[in-house]
Amino acid sequence: MTHQLSDLTAEGLRSFVAGQLERSRARTVQLTDAVDTDDLVRQHSRLMSPLVWDYAHIGNQEELWLVRDVGGREPVRQDIDELYDAFMHARADRPSLPLLGPAETRSYVVEVRDKVLDVLDHVKFDGGRELVDNGFAFGMIVQHEQQHDETMLATHQLRTGVPVLDAPAPPAGRRLATAEVFVPGGVFEMGTSVEPWALDNERPAHAVRVAPYVIDTAPVSNGDYLKFVLGGGYEDERWWSAVGWAHVQKASLVAPRFWEVADGNWMRTRFGRREPLPLDEPVMHVCFYEAEAYAKWAGKRLPTEQEWEFAARFDPATGRTRRFPWGDETPGPQHANLGQRHLGPAPVGAYPAGASPLGVEQLIGDVWEWTSSDFTPYPGFRAFPYDEYSLVFFGPDYKILRGGSFGTDEVVARSTFRNWDYPIRRQIFAGFRCARDPRPEERV
Ligand code: AVJ
Ligand code: FE
Repeated sequence: MTHQLSDLTAEGLRSFVAGQLERSRARTVQLTDAVDTDDLVRQHSRLMSPLVWDYAHIGNQEELWLVRDVGGREPVRQDIDELYDAFMHARADRPSLPLLGPAETRSYVVEVRDKVLDVLDHVKFDGGRELVDNGFAFGMIVQHEQQHDETMLATHQLRTGVPVLDAPAPPAGRRLATAEVFVPGGVFEMGTSVEPWALDNERPAHAVRVAPYVIDTAPVSNGDYLKFVLGGGYEDERWWSAVGWAHVQKASLVAPRFWEVADGNWMRTRFGRREPLPLDEPVMHVCFYEAEAYAKWAGKRLPTEQEWEFAARFDPATGRTRRFPWGDETPGPQHANLGQRHLGPAPVGAYPAGASPLGVEQLIGDVWEWTSSDFTPYPGFRAFPYDEYSLVFFGPDYKILRGGSFGTDEVVARSTFRNWDYPIRRQIFAGFRCARDPRPEERV
């Protein structure tokens, strides 16, 4: 879908952009209309903003980039820029700011959107401005809204009270033929220079050599992770890195977040519903340190970001780098669990049509996957269009997550997309899969 934007006429691109703007807004409205005004302004966790902050911040970013910058129009509400600047106030402090209330927020975002649709009607995509080339600024703002929608979905998961979200169950799982896949390695093209809406940190495409390795066919399941928990994994220093061990002690971690034992049964709570732990679903709400410790306990390690992308994109038959594991087609419901279509990851084996040529499954969607890599720029990186999207976050403080979750929209879930977070974070929809070096007899 989005890699063919340059084939569209200006009118085709305009209507594609309008459709994407509408889709992201429908989701924002759904997530915010689902709760009452008290829930909108309340802070459900110190890790998260009040929902009403995300809502107005979505509108404010849209105003900054599309109304003022692309459109060259007068500000709608310059007085609130500072309140919704993510770098000015930490999430924990946002509830005490003089934020717009729910009604004011709703009318603000509508006013901005009306102006944006007018800007879209008049914009010249081929005017030689890099910011609007292929509708990039619009794509960036659509993705920004969808990313905040996933953040708001994580806030919903932290909210207590009666359940307010609903969705059909994901497809059934199936037994995998093999638990692991041998990947021959080689040179592949990592990142992209051609996806028109790829963000700065995914660029440019560059050749990367990957040594042979073995990777799990699917993300680690709750059932497998439970063996680590029951086997005393959280009490055994051997499995943890020094910082991981210090953290697990200090934070008193004993199991993934939202797990608990009730009457001797393992339960997990999701969007306000407590259920028996489904053993065949990918484990979720573990931090990087827990993922790393499990991998070590299992005699494995986490994949590097390069290994993850090689498994997701390399086609050994042609030596070509694909857009997605299954080919170049935009993700459909048969390929991957994306876009909040379901309210959790699908069981292991649920997406055979989403497999890579080597047979690696569920790389896209279901759960974000922790990798062992720090968030670093690719060779030739150029911050665009602003330093605060990626540049200011590069360095060893953040770990890379890949692949998107059930809550990630398809407009974001490119197989080049790079997410990052602190290694202690567990409220995001993150799990992992393991990798390892091949044994001598496994090398071809
Ligand atoms: C790419 C998900 C780490 O939510 O902090 C939203 C995306 N950047 N607003 C985040 C983002 C600015 C970002 N992540
Ligand atoms: Fe933001």
